[in-house]
Amino acid sequence: MKAKARAYANIALIKYWGKKNKALVIPYQSSLSFSVDQFYTETEVCYDESLVEDVVTLDGKTLEGIELERVATFMDEVRTRYQIPYYAKIDSVNHVPKKAGLASSASAFAALALAATKAYQIGLDSDELSTIARLGSGSASRSMYGGFSYWNKGVNHETSAAYPLDIEWNEFRMIACIVDKKEKKISSREAMEKSVEDKTFYKAWIKQSKTDFKRMKKLIFEKDIDVVGALAEQNALAMHASLLASGIWYFEPKTVELMNRVQHLRETLNVPIYFTMDAGPNLKLITLETNVDQVLEEFKDVETIVLKKGENAHVITTD
Ligand code: PMV
Repeated sequence: MKAKARAYANIALIKYWGKKNKALVIPYQSSLSFSVDQFYTETEVCYDESLVEDVVTLDGKTLEGIELERVATFMDEVRTRYQIPYYAKIDSVNHVPKKAGLASSASAFAALALAATKAYQIGLDSDELSTIARLGSGSASRSMYGGFSYWNKGVNHETSAAYPLDIEWNEFRMIACIVDKKEKKISSREAMEKSVEDKTFYKAWIKQSKTDFKRMKKLIFEKDIDVVGALAEQNALAMHASLLASGIWYFEPKTVELMNRVQHLRETLNVPIYFTMDAGPNLKLITLETNVDQVLEEFKDVETIVLKKGENAHVITTD
């Protein structure tokens, strides 16, 4: 009754931002992302009939309070859906800078969804696994797959699932620029709720993101970095615009400086470089392998991590 799984984080090119159904984590818009090789989570789930509650460690530290509650609530969902009668010992190791807008919850809940079902020998397809992962964290649905994938917003639990995009684009790179490793000032969950409450700007954002998603789902297959990069950048800025209207921003002075630098490089040196940004101050650059050295040279004063395509979420061991 034991299984260990690994899942990779993903970075959205077209963002998910806002829940239509909070309990089921059904979003207002479909989203599209790229999974990344350098950030992943490995989680072992061991069901144990002697336990009276879930016991969870993250990077060797036992979780308590709301962090434990979030995992236990997720596990309750899994237990109810698949009639699992036991609590579990869960050990998770996160190879991701935590809570810095680098998608740690995506890889965490994808790995947990896979390990928690596999440990009880429940064999699920990736799209069904993605719906389970989604219940823990929306973006986790997309972490079932390596490379590019999309999360179809759907209308209920079964249809709000993620799928892989059948595209090999080996030159595609993202470069994470670590501006700040501190805990987020405001969680994505809370910020999303505030954004949704602001009717005017949020409505404009939904409309924009729906168009962006349709375009990206087609255009990505043309593998034109300028088209894909520009659309991703515009989409991220539109998401942050809806946030700004609610008085929330994740920009640090350094973030804005780097945004300006990206624009400068693009406009004056013709380097195909774009950025995207999530619920944290760190910027993720979008470019091609051939430009990585030049970009790193221009960003040598910043802590950077070059990201290639991650793998599908997979089981490492079972018992
Ligand atoms: O999955 P959550 O609840 O952490 O939300 C993720 C939201 C963004 O990272 C900002 C966008 C996305 O689609 O990943």
